[in-house]
Parts: sequence; structure tokens; C-alpha cells
Amino acid sequence: MKSFDVVVIGGGPGGYVAAIRAAQLGLSAACIDEAKAVDGKPALGGTCTNVGCIPSKALLQSSENYEQAGHHFADHGVLVKGLALDLGVMQKRKEKVVKQNNEGIAYLFKKNKVTFFHGRGSFKSASEIVVGDETLAAKNIIIATGSNPRALPGADFDEKLILSNTGALALTEVPKRLGVIGAGIIGLEMGSVWRRLGADVTILEALPAFLGVADEAIAKEAAKIFAKQGLKIETGVAITKVSTAKNAVKIEYKASDGAAKTLDVDRLIVSIGRVANTNGLHAEAIGLKMERGLVVVDGDCRTSVPNVWAVGDVVRGPMLAHKAEEEGVAAAERIAGQKPHVNFNTIPSVIYTAPEIAWVGQTEQQLKAAGVAYKTGSFPFSANARARALGDTSGLVKFIADAATDAILGVHIIGPMAGELIAEAVAAMEFGGSAEDIGMICHAHPSLSEAIKEAALAVDKRALNI
Ligand code: FAD
Ligand code: NAI
Repeated sequence: MKSFDVVVIGGGPGGYVAAIRAAQLGLSAACIDEAKAVDGKPALGGTCTNVGCIPSKALLQSSENYEQAGHHFADHGVLVKGLALDLGVMQKRKEKVVKQNNEGIAYLFKKNKVTFFHGRGSFKSASEIVVGDETLAAKNIIIATGSNPRALPGADFDEKLILSNTGALALTEVPKRLGVIGAGIIGLEMGSVWRRLGADVTILEALPAFLGVADEAIAKEAAKIFAKQGLKIETGVAITKVSTAKNAVKIEYKASDGAAKTLDVDRLIVSIGRVANTNGLHAEAIGLKMERGLVVVDGDCRTSVPNVWAVGDVVRGPMLAHKAEEEGVAAAERIAGQKPHVNFNTIPSVIYTAPEIAWVGQTEQQLKAAGVAYKTGSFPFSANARARALGDTSGLVKFIADAATDAILGVHIIGPMAGELIAEAVAAMEFGGSAEDIGMICHAHPSLSEAIKEAALAVDKRALNI
């Protein structure tokens, strides 16, 4: 029997990073992953690489290029004649980007001497994992089995008419009319891709407020911008029935005013959240404690079973690749006897729409509800010289700082490259920084990052360029 210090089940961002970190720390490490590419070969990288972060960002970039060429290049005096879409090429490029990432992880495993097993891993005991016809002995096991899309009752995914993220990323034709249920992150990102490529997109959201997870000021701005782009979003709806015909989907629902309505579309994306995946893990064999489908862990990702750890989408917390990675690294370091710490308060969120939306820390509504005294400062990109030069002036940066200490409590951005800009705020919060600290840092001119500095200065009512 092969034996390892650490066996990781799942090769997504939580799992593959945990295996690499364990190997770096001198532990013998194995990683088991069952995902297959179309050719049957391993497709390392999990949901993120195969049907999540990576392919969605590839299509977001390609579709944004198409939108820019069709609608915005002319503002720069760049005239495009005979603009056309080759969706086949666009999809092939996406697949190539995915493959590069799959192969990159396989290379990293070799480089770090992580032993890879292609197949489904399941528990035989708390120290033995079965994969194919092998049984591996493991001193420690890390469960990193990720998540699956949540289906709407009565509307199972067929990936032809009713699509999860997998089908939504693989369409071979642009649907004329696209319905989306759920105006969360996937709904907004995939809705944006297909709208830019020509679909008439309607998003139906159950909650009365649009983008309730974001700061209200940012959500309001986003709603305005998305409406202007032609993305139709209806909030406060209750879906009553979804039915399919030969090449169409009918969605019946109650609108926010109580009226019964119908939406007829060619394709429907259902993006109403994800559920933890423990399929086939045989977790009951070791009496693993589960709650609402999630593997129960403590703050250090220890499960109820000694020497069994769990990280990423399969445990509590935001379902984000970088959160999974942080937990994977921390679990490997704990196994090696170190004392790492994952700071949940500084995990950034990014929505890769155009403009991008990004935030870290608390929203104004959360602070109000908690009774925390705070002050805010905002700065619009319309007053930023680089944004003007780019021709991308929508959005703003908003800082929230503690009223007494000036410590940064939250930073919220909607605007160009928000997903990159947020890193400065994350770093400042990690170092316990104040709004004044950011205001005192020299930022390059002209750069979008000056909007961060100006919003920080605005907390003390001393922004310079507005
Ligand atoms: P996963 O990535 O789901 O990996 C789990 C792996 O384990 C899979 O390969 C699975 O096949 C394998 N597995 C499961 N069970 C077994 C078993 N028993 N034996 C062997 N293998 C098994 N997050 C971001 O931070 N940024 C983004 O831009 C972003 N975009 C996204 C876009 C979409 C469309 C979707 C769906 C998600 C996106 N996410 C994004 C979320 C991100 O993909 C997940 O949070 C992340 O992949 C979770 O990592 P994980 O390692 O926990 O699990
Ligand atoms: P989500 O949680 O972001 O959004 C789901 C939305 O569907 C919510 O607004 C919810 O109110 C709504 N909803 C739920 N049930 C509904 C119903 N019956 N009818 C209508 N609306 C309903 O989940 P989503 O978009 O599916 O994404 C899944 C996960 O993937 C997220 O947790 C996110 O963290 C991750 N992800 C991250 C990305 C990023 O970081 N850029 C990109 C895409 C996904």
C-alpha cells in the first residue's frame, strides 16, 4: 500500500494548492482528482479552471473586445468595418486557456513531487482512501471536493435548454433571447457575456434588492449602468413554473407587484448559488459531521474526525477560489506544525462585469446594523485623468473608516480594473491601515489608483481633484 503524510481529495484551487504547500514543507503529498477533459485526460484545477473562474474570464475578455470594437472604438477614431463574431474561435480560445491552466497544475505537481491519482477518492477509514483499485494510507487527509450548481426545483439542468455554469460557458450559438434566474455573480457575469455577443438578456432575481451583498451605493450605481447597457433585471420575483418546448423555455413567475408574468426565452441559465459536493466520498464511513450539506470545520479547517481537514467550497464561508487557496495553504501548514491564520475579514470579492465591481471588508449597511460609528469618503472615476484617457469613467471608489480611529473598515469600488485596484485596500487592511495612511501614499499619475487615494482623502473631506 502506498502511504503519504497528506492525501488531498480534489484538485481545485483549495486542493492542488494544499498538496503543493504540503510538499514544499517536506511532507509526502498526494492529490486525487476525478475531473476529465474531453479527451479523457486529467483536467486539474477543479470548477475554477474547468467551468468557473478561468473560462468565464476568457469569455468575458473576448466578449468585451467585441463590444469595444462594435460600440466604443469609433470614439477613439478607430473605425472597424465588417465586424463579425466567430463564436467557434472564441470558444476554442477559451478551451486553450483552460488547457494551459490544467497543464500548468500538472507541471507544478511534478515540480513539487506531488503524486497525482486520476479517479474518484473515497474513504475506507479515517486513514485510508480508495482510488480506482488502489488503497492509499494517509496520516492526514484534506477534503477539497468543491461544489456543484444548485438546481431550481422542477427545472433540472439538461445543459441544452436549461443551463448551469457548464452549459452557459459552452454555448455554440448566441441565443436570441436568454433568460437568467438569479442576479448573483454568475448571472451578472454570464448575462454580460451573452448580452455583449447579441442576446436579449433578462435576469430574474428573487430578492427585492439588487446585489444585496454589495454596498448599497455601489449596487445602485451598478443597476444604473447595467440597465443602460441593456441588461434587463427584475427583482422581487417568485418563479412558479419552468417548462421546456423543442427549442424554447417558458418561465412563469409572480412579479414584485404580484402580477403573474411569463418570460419566453431560447435558453435559460439557472444561477441561484451552489451546493457543497461530497458525492461518492463515502464520508459516512468515518462519521464525518455535516451540516446543511457542508462539512463542518473549525476556524483552522479541522473536521470532526482527527487528522481529517476540509477546505474551500465544501466548507462554510464564501465560495471563492482565493478563499479556498488560503484555506488549503493554512491546512497544509497546520499539518506541518505551523500556526497560520486565514483572515476572513480581508477576503476580497470581485465581479468581472464591465465596469468591474470589487470590495473588501464591511458594507455601510452592515456597519449601520452593527451600530458601528463610521465615516465615508467617495471619489468618482469621472474625475480621474487616467479613466478619462481610457474613455472609461463610470463608477466610483468608496472608503469606509472607523469614526474614532480612522481604521479602514471597508473599501468598495465599481469602475475600470476594480478587481486589480482592490488589492491595495486588502493590503492596507491586512496591515491595520487607516484611510489617512492611503491618503499619504504617493500614487502614480495618471493612474486609476489615484481614485483610491482621493477616496481615502475624501474620508477627511480633503480630496484634491473634486
Ligand atoms: P473545486 O474547484 O470545485 O474543485 C473540486 C475538485 O474536486 C473538482 O475537480 C472535482 O472534480 C474534484 N472531486 C470532487 N469529489 C471528488 C472525489 N470524491 N474524488 C476525486 N475528485 C473529486 N471564484 C473566484 O474566486 N473568482 C472567480 O472569478 C470565480 N468565477 C467563477 C465562475 C463560475 C462560473 C463558477 C461556477 C465559479 C466561480 N468561482 C470564482 C468560484 C470558484 O470556482 C470556487 O470557489 C472554487 O473553484 C472552489 O475551489 P475548491 O478547491 O473548493 O473546489
Ligand atoms: P450567488 O449566490 O452569487 O447568486 C445567486 C442569486 O440567485 C442570489 O442573488 C439569490 O438571491 C438568487 N436566487 C436564489 N434562489 C432564487 C430563485 N429561486 N429565484 C430567483 N433568484 C434566486 O450564486 P451564483 O451566481 O450561482 O454563483 C455561485 C457561487 O460562485 C457564488 O457563491 C460565487 O461566490 C461564485 N462565483 C464567483 C465569481 C467571482 O468571484 N467573480 C464568479 C462566479 C461565481
